[in-house]
Amino acid sequence: MKILRTPGSLRAVLKEHRHKQIGFVPTMGYFHDGHLSLMKRAVQDNDITVVSIFVNPLQFGPNEDLDKYPRDEDRDTELAENQDIDYLFIPTVESMYPHDMHVRLMMNNRTDVLCGASRPGHFDGVITVLAKLFHIVQPDKVYMGMKDAQQFAVVDAFCQDLNFPLELVGVPTVREEDGLAKSSRNVFLSEAERNEAPAINNSLKLGQTLAKSGEKDTSVITACVKEAIEKETSGTIDYVELYRYPELTVTKDICGTVILAVAVRFSNARLIDNVIFEV
Ligand code: PAJ
Repeated sequence: MKILRTPGSLRAVLKEHRHKQIGFVPTMGYFHDGHLSLMKRAVQDNDITVVSIFVNPLQFGPNEDLDKYPRDEDRDTELAENQDIDYLFIPTVESMYPHDMHVRLMMNNRTDVLCGASRPGHFDGVITVLAKLFHIVQPDKVYMGMKDAQQFAVVDAFCQDLNFPLELVGVPTVREEDGLAKSSRNVFLSEAERNEAPAINNSLKLGQTLAKSGEKDTSVITACVKEAIEKETSGTIDYVELYRYPELTVTKDICGTVILAVAVRFSNARLIDNVIFEV
């Protein structure tokens, strides 16, 4: 596995592989099994796999955890090497953003709800860095996790609108044994919060069961999920919402493919999770 630290150096080594199928897994590092499952899929499906680690300043708001975002390059390098990754791209901030951006990319759709509503500008930062990374890597397939289902829907729309010649592959959420979605931010939970956190996934399952058993009213389902989270955790609910997926538009009476998604704030971590299902 080769480690590259600038866009130019990665492009130079990829030049000789342009006739092969290239898979790409963009990440912000601090790998857990969720990241590793994306890498496994990419290695299985492609001739060459590129993984990036870049904690993208553009997608963090002024009061968010950019400085505190967990990092461990040595451990990440070892884990990527064990997955048979060909190229690990760890660019410096200076090489990705040598000057303020002259161009601003902005999502018009799919961002006024869920994390987009509570993190203004976040998804604009995500699509900006992905536009850069996709141009540098020029992947045939890109692997992203369904844990961040809104991010997936946003990136899917962005790739379609801008005709990026790649296939976006959604990989199912990897969970702890007790159902908590794996996340780099789980390390910030206190012991008590960690014990409560599986209630998030359980409450989503409860909501899904309600919908599947015939409850059509979105507000009844979200109220029930809220109540379960409030009862079982000390966290503060940021949102519990249900939308059509991937459009992320309001659906009063549930039908078709929908997403039930939650965000809960604990003392030092904000956790998100979702279920996507058909009714
Ligand atoms: P990051 O949070 O590091 O996540 C990288 C990828 O791992 C994302 O596609 C995310 O959905 C996926 N992932 C995270 N937890 C997962 C889990 N438990 N199961 C399956 N997949 C999981 O998402 C980002 O980085 C950034 O926004 C990025 C796309 C790299 C742009 O900066």
